[in-house]
Amino acid sequence: MADGTPAAPARLVATGLSKRYGAVQALADVDFDLRPGEVVALLGENGAGKSTLVKVLSGLVTPDTGTITMDGEPVNISSSARSQAAGIAVVQQEYSTVGALSVAENLVLGKANSPFLWTRGRLRAEAQALLGEVGLGHIDPSTKVEELSVAEMQLLEVARVLAREARVVIFDEPTAALSDAETEKVLAVVRGLAAKGISIVYVTHRLPEVFAIADRVSIFRNGRSLPSVAIGDIDVAGIIQMMLGRTLETMYPERRPVEGDERLVLRDVVISGLSAPVSLSARRGEILGLTGQLGSGADLVVKALASETPILGGVVEVDGSPLKAKDRSKGLADGITYCSPDRKRSGIFAGLSIVRNLSSSWLSSVATAGTVSTRRERSAAEALASAFAIDSKRLGSSVGKLSGGNQQKVALAKWLGNNPTLFLVEEPTRGVDVGARSDIYAKLRGLCEQGMTVVVSSSDTNEIHGLCDTIATFYHGEMVGVGPADDWTEDALVAAVMNRSEK
Ligand SMILES: Nc1ncnc2c1ncn2[C@@H]1O[C@H](COP(=O)(O)OP(=O)(O)OP(=O)(O)O)[C@@H](O)[C@H]1O
Ligand SMILES: [Mg+2]
Repeated sequence: MADGTPAAPARLVATGLSKRYGAVQALADVDFDLRPGEVVALLGENGAGKSTLVKVLSGLVTPDTGTITMDGEPVNISSSARSQAAGIAVVQQEYSTVGALSVAENLVLGKANSPFLWTRGRLRAEAQALLGEVGLGHIDPSTKVEELSVAEMQLLEVARVLAREARVVIFDEPTAALSDAETEKVLAVVRGLAAKGISIVYVTHRLPEVFAIADRVSIFRNGRSLPSVAIGDIDVAGIIQMMLGRTLETMYPERRPVEGDERLVLRDVVISGLSAPVSLSARRGEILGLTGQLGSGADLVVKALASETPILGGVVEVDGSPLKAKDRSKGLADGITYCSPDRKRSGIFAGLSIVRNLSSSWLSSVATAGTVSTRRERSAAEALASAFAIDSKRLGSSVGKLSGGNQQKVALAKWLGNNPTLFLVEEPTRGVDVGARSDIYAKLRGLCEQGMTVVVSSSDTNEIHGLCDTIATFYHGEMVGVGPADDWTEDALVAAVMNRSEK
């Protein structure tokens, strides 16, 4: 539905919403509206207040001021049960699935008509159908959720809302860890819901998606809402300007020929989960990128190097010495660090302060005779915070209170804090806004110019294409190509990871 359709009555109107957390004004007099069957993209920098609005609409957060109406009637959505009863369904940014339960149980959890009366067969059949719709048809509904990958959990969250009968469906960054193929499925789900007249709020930092589905964009800046704009009246540069309050000249740092010595060599390495051995290498100063769609195995090379996945054969050398398989609990070899894609599993400690999170991987180096110098810890953390666009005024607050993208910045900064020679990272900018992303790319490139090597796996082909010196592509458990980034166009790269011939 195009913007400005006359007489389309509003489905949802929020007026004058405010929410303060201590010194942080997360929402400041926000207005937001949504019409039937309309897709509104909700955009803004990390910490702008998007998820706070989503949480207000889902009944998880009570605003300090403001009113909400649905189809013209004031609604009370002060609890998640009330929000659901009002017809609002939400795909949260941080997963709300319960790890110890099965996929099927999670899909029907919280459904209005009691699933407890269902037979196992019915549960299974319903779950299988929902999984199929989001491209998870290969997953057995009895699988425990904690066994799923980050991308699979994101798709499961999307499947969960399909099980609800809703008038408004809110997606908070549903594709942050998905590749183009899975993203297409999510976008198809969104279009299908909108075509049925369901109204959609879609939060994302991946701007191309906005143009693929949104009718209108609503941009937040520092907790304030800017007047919304019809999609036909704005372009990417315009969105970035509204989000950041400035233009962004270049997203990716310039690539220069990498001439350092060979740092990492994989020769016929057999990795659990990949169907063919892998041979790859990366020099000092090089960024090696691995990409592919869900289940392609692109992430497994990084996981294997990080001792998260077994290496079954072949040779891995780092700076000329064989890399020994390590017991995970003993940590990685000196100079190697790994940043996991799953913040909840191993990236960061939500209950600890930003300072302590930033220093936790290198505390021993600021400790003298076993005692930590708070001053040294803080000054080291401040330096990292400024390099990664983390708000230095908030170093003492706990990481769990930061917005999703800001948590990701802390996770990255933490692992780069001990100056690794080899940095292994999956999905480095998951949920990070465009401005901070360009800072992070510049930082990674800067560290490489000082001799660091990066091996990065990412589902974001644009990121892999723009950032890396060498690119390896994966499909169905096999490496299918490797070569200098300059040999790829972005379209060819997308085609390669989807195993389509380029048109
Ligand atoms: N429970 C909380 N306690 C303190 N501050 C909070 C809490 N929840 C959110 N905030 C703060 O409110 C602000 C808005 O956060 P919000 O999660 O809405 O941002 P966002 O726009 O979703 O960002 P992102 O793109 O990173 O997900 C941030 O400064 C955040 O740190
Ligand atoms: Mg958020």
